[in-house]
Amino acid sequence: MRLRRLPDNIVNQIAAGEVVERPASAVKELVENSIDAGATRIDVVMRAGGRSLISVADNGKGMSRDELELCFERHATSKLPDEDLVHIQHLGFRGEAIPSIASVSRMTITSRNSDDENAWALSVEGGKKGEVEPVGAQQGTRVEVRDIFFATPARLKFLKSERAEFGAALDVMRRLAMAYPAIAFTLSDEKRVALRVSASQGDLFEAWLDRLGAIMGREFADNALKIEAERDGVHLSGFAGVPTFNRGNASMQFMFVNGRPVKDKLFVGAVRGAYMDLLARNRHPLLALFLELPADQVDVNVHPAKAEVRFRDSGGVRGLIVGALRNALAENGHRASSTVGHQALSSFHAQQATQLPLQSRPAHQVGVGNWADVGRNSVAPGMAEENTEYHAPLQNSPSGYYSETGMTPQAPVVENTSSQQKQTEEYLHYPLGAARSQLHETYIVAQTQDGMILVDQHAAHERLVMERMKKAFGDKSVARQIMLLPDVVELDELSAGRLCDRSDELAEMGLVLEPFGNGAIVVRETPAMLGECNVKGLVQDLADDLAELDTTLSLKDRMDDVFATMACHGSVRAGRRLTVEEMNALLREMEVTPHSGQCNHGRPTYVELKLADIEKLFGRR
Ligand SMILES: Nc1ncnc2c1ncn2[C@@H]1O[C@H](COP(=O)(O)OP(=O)(O)O)[C@@H](O)[C@H]1O
Ligand SMILES: [Mg+2]
Repeated sequence: MRLRRLPDNIVNQIAAGEVVERPASAVKELVENSIDAGATRIDVVMRAGGRSLISVADNGKGMSRDELELCFERHATSKLPDEDLVHIQHLGFRGEAIPSIASVSRMTITSRNSDDENAWALSVEGGKKGEVEPVGAQQGTRVEVRDIFFATPARLKFLKSERAEFGAALDVMRRLAMAYPAIAFTLSDEKRVALRVSASQGDLFEAWLDRLGAIMGREFADNALKIEAERDGVHLSGFAGVPTFNRGNASMQFMFVNGRPVKDKLFVGAVRGAYMDLLARNRHPLLALFLELPADQVDVNVHPAKAEVRFRDSGGVRGLIVGALRNALAENGHRASSTVGHQALSSFHAQQATQLPLQSRPAHQVGVGNWADVGRNSVAPGMAEENTEYHAPLQNSPSGYYSETGMTPQAPVVENTSSQQKQTEEYLHYPLGAARSQLHETYIVAQTQDGMILVDQHAAHERLVMERMKKAFGDKSVARQIMLLPDVVELDELSAGRLCDRSDELAEMGLVLEPFGNGAIVVRETPAMLGECNVKGLVQDLADDLAELDTTLSLKDRMDDVFATMACHGSVRAGRRLTVEEMNALLREMEVTPHSGQCNHGRPTYVELKLADIEKLFGRR
């Protein structure tokens, strides 16, 4: 065989091998073209998972008759203003998609631009162009791709089920729809409309949150923190979920660079880093982040489907993302996921069916007589709904917030000017409310303006201790307490060795230990903040942490892990009775402490039930 130049159609088919792997890749290219054309609505229909038909219709700027002919030519594009690949302003720029898809299918494009009286249609089959014909149609473009890969049967064999191919296209469209909230999108097949989002209004962030909620779920919108940061012309925006709203995999993490959905390791690593000490290793936050940067700072031309990108300053980009996420998380540290409350509610609902046997209740609680007797404004029990303003009094006997008799309701206190009363009134307006009671020596019940808060005091305390230790460490002021009787802890040689190698670093963190021979160590001082701590458990767990830690890293780099482990062994507090003052102090500290909405293991430290939800429980709504 002689050396020869390949015919155009073969060249296009080879390109198609890279650009259009499956129907979803054709959908991606065509929808991107519609976005580039300035469309505000894009409707996609697929039949047989895209095998028999992919139709993409838009109301964008359309093409003239000449452009329609030209767009089937290889490397014909309207999107590269200069003669270089630097200033890429559009999603497309290669001029490859249309000729490639046309080379492996039967394609018809109907298009009309704003200057023309009528639309033009042109069909191409297996790369062979037909004649341009005038047809009637609105402004915009409709691309119909029939029998994709009929010309390349080998490719056809590799396609998955119709459902899987449709699913892949849905995934592509959802990602694009997230990045373009001002565009309405639909995707449907023979049976159903799988995606339908209307153009979102409002300022950019509102529109975005609206669109993200429509695609990632309303719950995401309710639990997302706004992200906005800028450094050296690189702009990061988007929304990130609070840590307690998490998933078992990373499939709900979406990243975009200059409006392009990407899957890039840099993002995955940055997100991991930002949520590191807030989530267990196997849990993943939900987020959608949009990075905008000058075209010369990023190379989008490293991947045929443009799914990966290369940054000129990847360290800077990573730093920007980690910093922005951490700031947002710290500022909203006390926010726990709203779904936690909903989950709690649904378990309340589940209880409804089981009635307490009547005779098991203390006699005085049965019937209504007693309630009337205690002098509550004579509201007949059946009329209670009317009296929606009624709350239990804010303050009871001076001796405590919880009267001896337990449930005795009192008439609302009209004139009580005690300072505690005032304090409580004020606390009601705080995010975590005013402490009202403690249950099982473990849970704090607080009242807010429009609901109630239930705090797991152990989890909350652990988190607070950890954050305090981090802060003290940052200020180089970790206080230590000397053990009256130094504790000898038996470990194995390796573990003891690892701890002793790090003894200087550990001392800075409040833990003073020395080798004691034969795999044992002696602990002389512990961090004062831990109070009376379980030294043996602490040392053992720290040794385990160190075993996992890269020896070239300093403990400071893993400070979060170390302090989390320490806090875990501090003297806590489940099972300790707290005074109202102590409870309120805990709530107030939670409000101002970063990350206090979740414990060191990513579980919530509190749940919130809105009054409206409580009313639903009782059928009042
Ligand atoms: N939906 C559309 N509306 C208007 N013009 C389009 C549309 N689709 C394609 N075109 C035109 O066809 C050209 C070629 O498209 P394509 O092969 O996808 O290459 P690229 O998008 O890289 O330029 C585009 O540059 C554009 O001018
Ligand atoms: Mg294109």
